[in-house]
Amino acid sequence: MAHAALWNKSREDAVREVISRRMALFYVVAAVLGGGVVAVSAQANRVEVPTDYMTGYVLYDKVDKPDRKIIRFLYISPQAASLRDAGRPLPNGTVLVMEDHAAETDASGGVITGSDGRLIATSRITAIAVMEKRDGWGASIPVERRNGDWDYGAFDGAGQRRNVSTDPCFACHLPHGARDYTFTTLTRPIN
Ligand code: HEC
Repeated sequence: MAHAALWNKSREDAVREVISRRMALFYVVAAVLGGGVVAVSAQANRVEVPTDYMTGYVLYDKVDKPDRKIIRFLYISPQAASLRDAGRPLPNGTVLVMEDHAAETDASGGVITGSDGRLIATSRITAIAVMEKRDGWGASIPVERRNGDWDYGAFDGAGQRRNVSTDPCFACHLPHGARDYTFTTLTRPIN
């Protein structure tokens, strides 16, 4: 009797082990398939947050977004900054960084404005979006989505890559081809 109980116990363990191995296999297969989906959308993850953008780039504009309670700080790489008034297209190697700062709020959570009527930025960065232009990069992007040689990267406030598709970046910037796929004007340097 004691023997049978022991046998049953170890058999149960064996069954459990087989199940957990199958689950592990399932997760591996799911991860591989999931990775395949990302590959299909051709996301190369070659755009990084430049390590020196806060000190080495030109802060050329700030955009208030009261509805989202953020202020967007817009930076451009220095070799392109000197060309900002000459307009577009921007040169090979240009990097644009859009850094979202949480806005200062009052006790009830509403945004407050300074004497200039603008939102007040806190030092808390909530997201970073980067676009970078390199000769030949466009070739790996499907032609219907291609933004010249630009590619995009989405990061959290700490600069860690967010696990999201960059397809919406291409789609929303695409209609602005005449402005080299950018929205902001690059004509209002603020420092
Ligand atoms: C729904 C439209 C939309 C989508 C999607 C979008 N953007 Fe933009 N992007 C804008 C607008 C509008 C601006 C101008 C700033 C503003 O008004 O917020 C902008 C500005 C930028 C800028 C500053 C340079 C410029 O074009 O003025 C960068 C960099 C940028 N976006 C990167 C990204 C990245 C990376 C993604 C994807 C993660 C993305 N954007 C997705 C609309 C979009």
